[in-house]
Amino acid sequence: MIPFMSMQTQTSTNMFKAKYSAPSNIALIKYWGKKDFQKPINPSISMTLKNCSTETEITYIPGEKLEIEFYLKDKKEPSFITKIEKLFGQMESEFPWIKKGRFEIHSNNSFPHSSGIASSASGMAAIVLCIFDINAQIKKIPFDLVNEAKRISEYARLGSGSAARSVYPFFSIWGKTKASEISQDSYAVGYNNFSDFFKSFCDTILIVNKDKKSVSSSEGHSLMDTHPYKEVRISEANRKLITLIEIMKSDDFSSFAECIEQEALELHSLMMTSNPSFILLEPESIRLIKEIRDLRKTGKKVSFTIDAGPNIHLIYPKSEFNSVKELCEIWQKENVIIDFIHDEIGMGPFKI
Ligand code: DP6
Repeated sequence: MIPFMSMQTQTSTNMFKAKYSAPSNIALIKYWGKKDFQKPINPSISMTLKNCSTETEITYIPGEKLEIEFYLKDKKEPSFITKIEKLFGQMESEFPWIKKGRFEIHSNNSFPHSSGIASSASGMAAIVLCIFDINAQIKKIPFDLVNEAKRISEYARLGSGSAARSVYPFFSIWGKTKASEISQDSYAVGYNNFSDFFKSFCDTILIVNKDKKSVSSSEGHSLMDTHPYKEVRISEANRKLITLIEIMKSDDFSSFAECIEQEALELHSLMMTSNPSFILLEPESIRLIKEIRDLRKTGKKVSFTIDAGPNIHLIYPKSEFNSVKELCEIWQKENVIIDFIHDEIGMGPFKI
């Protein structure tokens, strides 16, 4: 569970340390397209994951000028520093100390790059959590993750849009929608009004291709700026989000599956019809999509969603776990998938 209060972890008068784990999330209704400053053109809803997460430790020594050292799995990775400096610049007005001093950042993802899961959501959320904690240590004030969740989400969003949704347990909504009066474009909110049936949901990532994806998220989002179907997309995403929220109040798995699958395929049809056009699905992805739908016809409670890549996220209640495991072994033996990663719904970030 999310710890209620942060313990003061200042190690000496001029050194501060904080360590957090933040989860990744899988969108069921996708954020695709930006407006203004890192705000979404349409609302999205995601499931917080449990096993796919980033652990980040920040050590901060106040000083005159900003110095950042970033390590990924104990290996120096200077390529991440520009993004972090940019985020710190955006946080400076509230945290004036952030541009003065030495930061040593150690980050570790629990999931392999090949999973297709972007580390930006969990990574950015973990960094922002550490900054909030260090700020509380500097100011000698308590830090309550739950009370501060919206502000953490707002800053995480500036680092990466989907990171806004990585600070809550279970499900999270980001972007203004008629379905929820509290949802906003500038931060995500936790979504709790769903049936207990969904509390046991799993996401098994079926890896069909380990190659780097051919469209980056930011490139992908910008395709929506001039997309001929932009207005239709915005209204469809809003409609589907409202529909999904209604479905999730009951245990209606087949309506849930139809809604999230239609959404995943819509994301890919938007990519196929944008200029330039991208086809990210592989023949194996299509085979899996068809098999999952056929399995559902036989009574299995399995469904899929897909991000901006070829891998398939198998979404299902835990009661199907054993049959999913068997299926994965068969798919692997038949070379339909290279690997699979099991994950399930998670409880959000926590202090380490
Ligand atoms: C297809 O959050 O990675 O996964 O804001 O540019 O960092 P940036 O984009 P990012 O986009 C995620 C796109 C998506 C759908 C989703 O997670 O909602």
